[in-house]
Amino acid sequence: MAIKNIIDADILIIGSGIGALSVAGKLCREGRQITVVTKGLEKSCNSSLAQGGISVALSKEDDYHIHFKDTMAAGCYQNDEEAVMTLVSKAPEIIREFIDTGMKFDTDENGELQFGREAAHSLNRVIHAGGDKTGLLVVEQLLRNINENVTIMRNEMALDLCVKDGQCNGVITRDENGNLKRYKANFTILATGGIGQLYPSTSNDTTITGDGMAMAYRAGCVLKNLEFIQFHPTMLTIDGNAYGLVSEAVRGDGGILINEKGEKIMEGVHPMKDLAPRDVVAREVYAHYLKGEKIYLDISAIHDFRDRFPTVTEICESHGVDLSKNLIPVGPGAHFHMGGVQATPQGVTNIEGLFAVGEVACTGVHGANRLASNSLLEGIVFGKLLAEHISAIDRKAPDFEYEMPVYTVDKLPAKSEIQRKMMDFVGIVRHRSQMHEIMEWFRQYMPQGCDSFCALDLTKTDNAKQEVYNMLTAGWLIADAAMKRHDSIGAHYVVE
Ligand code: SIN
Repeated sequence: MAIKNIIDADILIIGSGIGALSVAGKLCREGRQITVVTKGLEKSCNSSLAQGGISVALSKEDDYHIHFKDTMAAGCYQNDEEAVMTLVSKAPEIIREFIDTGMKFDTDENGELQFGREAAHSLNRVIHAGGDKTGLLVVEQLLRNINENVTIMRNEMALDLCVKDGQCNGVITRDENGNLKRYKANFTILATGGIGQLYPSTSNDTTITGDGMAMAYRAGCVLKNLEFIQFHPTMLTIDGNAYGLVSEAVRGDGGILINEKGEKIMEGVHPMKDLAPRDVVAREVYAHYLKGEKIYLDISAIHDFRDRFPTVTEICESHGVDLSKNLIPVGPGAHFHMGGVQATPQGVTNIEGLFAVGEVACTGVHGANRLASNSLLEGIVFGKLLAEHISAIDRKAPDFEYEMPVYTVDKLPAKSEIQRKMMDFVGIVRHRSQMHEIMEWFRQYMPQGCDSFCALDLTKTDNAKQEVYNMLTAGWLIADAAMKRHDSIGAHYVVE
């Protein structure tokens, strides 16, 4: 069945986070017509929730070679060295340019940028905006930087990419009124974020359900490093439920993880203690959690907590945490996917005309464990490189029809069941002997006649079903990748 509602677009961006808006911001000023399709509203993205900041070698003591070393070490040397060097060496100039567009990062009394500390950085390197509101303020600035050449389609879900013979000519979407649409685009950019909602506790926006990765898989994209999922050690956690992030910058400013007896839990675990690489801290917090212990972040050493961390203060107080006691109950939650659609720093994938930027892309910069505050940076720097790449090439979308697949699904699990399975089998600790069990569990949900999570007949699958199907697809792919990597490294921690 051919979709009748066809819209021509030059550049089509799926997603509205920092990567997406960085690409749009540059290209719209060159007069290019850009359509942004977003599943929620433009601020429904992980970027808006990011508290940490942007790491960039701009301080007098710093040098991008040190930033390079820290990024490689945090990534357990699984990173793509060239991509890391591109990121850290271009960062100072691109962040200065961004500041010139009007972006206000926090400064000291002399108007100089302030540099904060986060885990696994060997010196203070992280710039913030509005204390812990960095992501939101960056998104707002990027929205101010776009012009009338950008059209934002809200509450519209991208369903499948239109790909034939290794070439992409757009995407199929469904809007909030249930209308299927087909965008024909010369350039299609995946900027859908990661997979946080595949887990019961996460710092991610509710829209982040692995859609980009699932679409890319169905389109034949090469996917990479899917087993590397970063868990953040400190989500505000009450009665086992997570309610938002408590930034690592809190530990950077002197916050200390303690147990119910007041003992410092990172003592003797790693030389960098509370500022050890994130996977190390998350595993330690999780080990205590599995023993039924409560873990707190002791913030008594931080004097101006409310001013410094307005978002954390708001999250805590709205969930009944009395900050005058200086203790925030915390637990780990899924935070960032280092793996994704294999792409160059310019966003080039193995499908012609299809690009990937931000968390959905795996450019190799993060290796097996991302260095804190390198992801907003990646969105801005690689977003700019992608825009420059598109500017320099001439491409017309090839003319072919989208062939609607025949497969349908009848039964699907509840999202909460997928989340539980993912945490138990492909979470912070992975048990080698149990991995095949989750693969079998996924298998029962494959469409009849298909031995993978193949593309579905979109006329018979609504957006809610498609979202769950994408979660199953992404979960299955992650579990498969985890099963194939036998040794523990970085965020992939395996036991017998
Ligand atoms: C945080 O604020 O702890 C998160 C920073 C990051 O993930 O880069």
